[in-house]
Amino acid sequence: MLHYLSETDSTNTWVKQHLNQLQDGDGVYTQNQTAGRGRLGRQWKNMPGCGLYYTVLLRRPMKDPAALPLYASLAAAGAIRQLTGIMPQIKWPNDLLINGKKVTGILCESVGENYLCGIGINLAHPQSYFQQNDLPHGTSLLLAGADAAQPARLAKQLAEYMQQLFSPAQTKAFCEQGFVPFCEMYNQQCINLGKQVFFEGGNGVAERVDEHGHLLVRTERGNLQVFTGEVSIQGIYGC
Ligand code: BTN
Repeated sequence: MLHYLSETDSTNTWVKQHLNQLQDGDGVYTQNQTAGRGRLGRQWKNMPGCGLYYTVLLRRPMKDPAALPLYASLAAAGAIRQLTGIMPQIKWPNDLLINGKKVTGILCESVGENYLCGIGINLAHPQSYFQQNDLPHGTSLLLAGADAAQPARLAKQLAEYMQQLFSPAQTKAFCEQGFVPFCEMYNQQCINLGKQVFFEGGNGVAERVDEHGHLLVRTERGNLQVFTGEVSIQGIYGC
């Protein structure tokens, strides 16, 4: 079931608060989040009526929960492509970029064996929003040329489409087999590969993403696996 809220603090928080009433594959979306949360303890800013804030609950044993953010990024990219014709690239682990700018952020959280995928998509933000909020590396589907003149309609369509992609039938392969069946597709869409990347404790050339979702980087100290944290890419976001 897909729930719609005219406003909420955070769709991830709402799902956590309503776990007892929700089932595997249930989702919620809003276009107005008053306390949106981002990765690494950051805030996820809100522009009322211009974004899509969506969270889906997966409540099943999962072979490789650490790879869920990467799987979610593939699903969100697929939904954007289906509804706008624009194919975003994935910045490891799970940001979606269009023309090198961030259009989507994903925050996955777990409560026991309940897994939440929270997806924020900038739909119709004007350029002035990113300037005024000191977000020089952000963009929206509208700015990327998509037909987002009716953001409420696009938000509903995207939420409904992602609801299908995260349905129990569609997520069966990921839950049972982990990231392996999706690894190749992810690598094809990953913008990091072949580029100089900087991570906590080192830098090097990103070679590929392995079957557990780790970023493999060739450094002067040999090949390293990056598991988590922030990875910046030379030439992207002004780096
Ligand atoms: C990031 O890039 O830091 C992740 C941002 C995730 C934002 C989404 S919007 C829907 C869901 N609810 C939240 O409070 N956060 C996620």
